[in-house]
Amino acid sequence: MAEEAVLGFLENNEEITDSGQFSTEHNLDHNAVVNVIKSLRGFQYIVAQDIKRESWVLTAEGKKYAAEGSPEVQLFLAVPAEGSISKDELQRNLAPSVFKIGCAQAGKNKWVEMGKQVSRKVQHVEDKVKNLLLQIQEGLELDKESLSSLKARKLIEQQTWNGYSVKKGPKYAPKRKTFATDLTVGNLKNWKELEFKEYNFNAKGQPVDAGHVHPLLKVRKQFKDIFCQMEFEEMPTNNFVESSFWNFDALFQPQQHPARDSHDTFFLKDPSTTRELPEDYVERVKQVHESGGYGSRGYNYEWKREEANKNLLRTHTTAVSSRMLYALAKEPFAPKKYFSIDRVFRNEAVDKTHLAEFHQIEGLVCDRGLTLGDLIGVLQEFFSRLGMSKLRFKPAYNPYTEPSMEIFSYHEGLGKWVEIGNSGMFRPEMLQPMGLPEDVRVIAWGLSLERPTMIMFGIDNIRDLFGHKVDLDLIKRNPICRIGIK
Ligand code: PHE
Repeated sequence: MAEEAVLGFLENNEEITDSGQFSTEHNLDHNAVVNVIKSLRGFQYIVAQDIKRESWVLTAEGKKYAAEGSPEVQLFLAVPAEGSISKDELQRNLAPSVFKIGCAQAGKNKWVEMGKQVSRKVQHVEDKVKNLLLQIQEGLELDKESLSSLKARKLIEQQTWNGYSVKKGPKYAPKRKTFATDLTVGNLKNWKELEFKEYNFNAKGQPVDAGHVHPLLKVRKQFKDIFCQMEFEEMPTNNFVESSFWNFDALFQPQQHPARDSHDTFFLKDPSTTRELPEDYVERVKQVHESGGYGSRGYNYEWKREEANKNLLRTHTTAVSSRMLYALAKEPFAPKKYFSIDRVFRNEAVDKTHLAEFHQIEGLVCDRGLTLGDLIGVLQEFFSRLGMSKLRFKPAYNPYTEPSMEIFSYHEGLGKWVEIGNSGMFRPEMLQPMGLPEDVRVIAWGLSLERPTMIMFGIDNIRDLFGHKVDLDLIKRNPICRIGIK
């Protein structure tokens, strides 16, 4: 309809001067005409020039007053012609906004005397505001002063109207040509009569319907690659169920530590206890908790075997590190660099940034004579490979490390320092009972996989990343991301 009208009109006329006027004259919807113009212009049937017109329209409040009268007149009419009305009663008789604005304007116009009692000062008023609003509604032009007073009262606002003027283009034809698009036998036989559509080599291809890697797996791969480049070996993490012994006791975490509380830890019902622990080592761990040794005073409490036997879902991958270091201590000493990335479980209230299960990334270096300087150096090296080279450290506390440091990184995209992990040097109370040589030090750090992934992918609710509410489209569409890049 609209297309025929536009092309047909140009066949006999030089120009459509105004698409708005043209639409009204031909009884067409202006939006439809605009769409046709855009499409015909794309194929050079026509050339079109933008027309912009500013006009004034009533706001919702303006429309209300145009229909019901201005608040000042409504207020004036509510005041009796003779005598007076109490301000309270007047307020009760009017809508709150009408009363408020009406008082101000009618007072300014000197129409009424405002006090505890309100009375008229004049007998007749003219609703100038309503009249002006009606004029605008009819499309009439107003003088500058009236316009600015209505605008100041937010009763009118400017609206931009967009339309076109249109002329024939280089490929003008009274009817749109249809192009042959496919190389069918019929089209090839008729090729002389047909016009084929040109190939658009810039067109985007169809999206490939294939498997997509989840953001967490992508980021896990990045971390794993970095560890491998730095020659770390992966630790076996295939045991989600662990005993309290390896998860807590071996790490010199006292048995009354709040993290063990069932609020934070998922304990297993069946099997509720571990079957075996290395007895001589258990004895040394008990000793160090109860009375210390290796230069420590211990915790001075009665260590209970039953507590250590309890099975749980591991709360951190440091449980794996403790097993690995114990195994290492049984061999003649050789330095090691280990890492792990796997799932851990905490009995936490689920919210925007917490789930009851998440992934931990953990790295450790075990060698003679390591220092805190080595830890800082390794962390700098590790995180700069991720694009995070501005690091800061803050003293922290872990039962199994001394000193301990929280790791912060300056995120260019977010423009602030964000906490990215936790680190420290494992305590002698943890390493010595294992049987590691006295001068062996272990530097270690841990972080969650989810946090950097959320920062990289700009996801602010963890439930969009993990669990049953994950949007599969997000997995398909997600871009290649690097941390720390704007
Ligand atoms: N296990 C610690 C945690 O759960 C992380 C950590 C690992 C801290 C190694 C220090 C050393 O947060």
